[in-house]
Amino acid sequence: MADLPPQPEASTSKSPSIIAPEPVSATKMRVADKWVKPNGPPVGSTFGARLLDDEKDVFEHNAWDHVTLPEDFKIKAQEIMELHRNSPVAEALRDGYNSKPAHYWDKFYSLHEEGFFKDRQWLRLEFPELVACSEADAGPKIVLEVGCGAGNTVFPLLMRNENPDLHIFATDYSKKAVEVVKANKMYPKAEHGLGELHSSVWDITSKSSSNRNLKENLENLKLESNYSLPEGIEPGTVDVISVIFVLSALHPKEWEQAIRNLYNVLKPGGLLLIRDYGRHDLAQLRIKKDKLLDPEIPNLYIRGDGTRVYFFEKEELENMLVAPLADEEEKKMFEVLQLGEDRRLLVNRKEKKQMYRIWLQVKAKKL
Ligand SMILES: C[S@@+](CC[C@H](N)C(=O)[O-])C[C@H]1O[C@@H](n2cnc3c(N)ncnc32)[C@H](O)[C@@H]1O
Repeated sequence: MADLPPQPEASTSKSPSIIAPEPVSATKMRVADKWVKPNGPPVGSTFGARLLDDEKDVFEHNAWDHVTLPEDFKIKAQEIMELHRNSPVAEALRDGYNSKPAHYWDKFYSLHEEGFFKDRQWLRLEFPELVACSEADAGPKIVLEVGCGAGNTVFPLLMRNENPDLHIFATDYSKKAVEVVKANKMYPKAEHGLGELHSSVWDITSKSSSNRNLKENLENLKLESNYSLPEGIEPGTVDVISVIFVLSALHPKEWEQAIRNLYNVLKPGGLLLIRDYGRHDLAQLRIKKDKLLDPEIPNLYIRGDGTRVYFFEKEELENMLVAPLADEEEKKMFEVLQLGEDRRLLVNRKEKKQMYRIWLQVKAKKL
């Protein structure tokens, strides 16, 4: 496969361009302590922070954090993207990729069913808001993970959870992904028995729910029926939503509905946490020809396994979130609390190659 697999794990934490999240207070450190590996760095310390102060040291290590892109980076990236534009996916194949994307994710999870689980240590640093929901005294909390895949966010959270009133909903539109989550021995409760995980199929781009009860509920609440809800969730009830490398799997024309659905399930003041691919990330620059899905839509590609991937500019994510509500022109949906770019330089010391990973991270509060 020309590009990188769709399960990125790395995080460099606290890029200078990222607004640092609220520090976790001393009284709220018990669960955070559990996220540290034996002999790992203490809570509060920043790992993933190897800074390249002097260019001549670049080949001393395999990776550097919070790097600045070289001056000619953009020009080189544009040249590669010009190649992409000149050789898009054949027109006859485009509809097939767009009409049943879940099928390709089902295939992906069928093929990679085993050996999936990764204990994402970086969640504690990047998204302490998720960890805060799992504190013993956090009170009733609902966390919704959309596009949960094999559960690489929800299981690390559940296994360290101390909150008896934590409900985590792990949804994905791939039935196979949901099967993988449900087959995990920690489903629906980890050994300690605190909190509960619920998993179901949900397409975040769908307009109306297929579940009749939910439809009736929406009608009773006089809410627009052009929103859909995940199983077991009422509108306006979720405390935190995490969306990790999921928006990039959508077609740009689906973004608006996806964000409206997420807005609809969040409580006022609830948080939306997003991490995804940034424009000109190594995964984009490694793509060869015949993968750009449509010459009219730059930055949307098909991977070798048929799954879609988009590479975002910060402003694109921001614009989705601050769009006005359909029926209230004056009211924005979200206040953006953090909008950052996380850049990491990977070095192939043997071949003297330098490659840049670029991820975007957003935190937004429902207004
Ligand atoms: C790159 S994977 C990321 C999985 C997981 N969030 C993680 O970080 O490990 C993208 C996931 O989004 C899911 N997905 C894609 N489109 C979706 C949609 N419209 N609704 C819900 N899930 C979707 C895919 O099935 C896949 O599991």
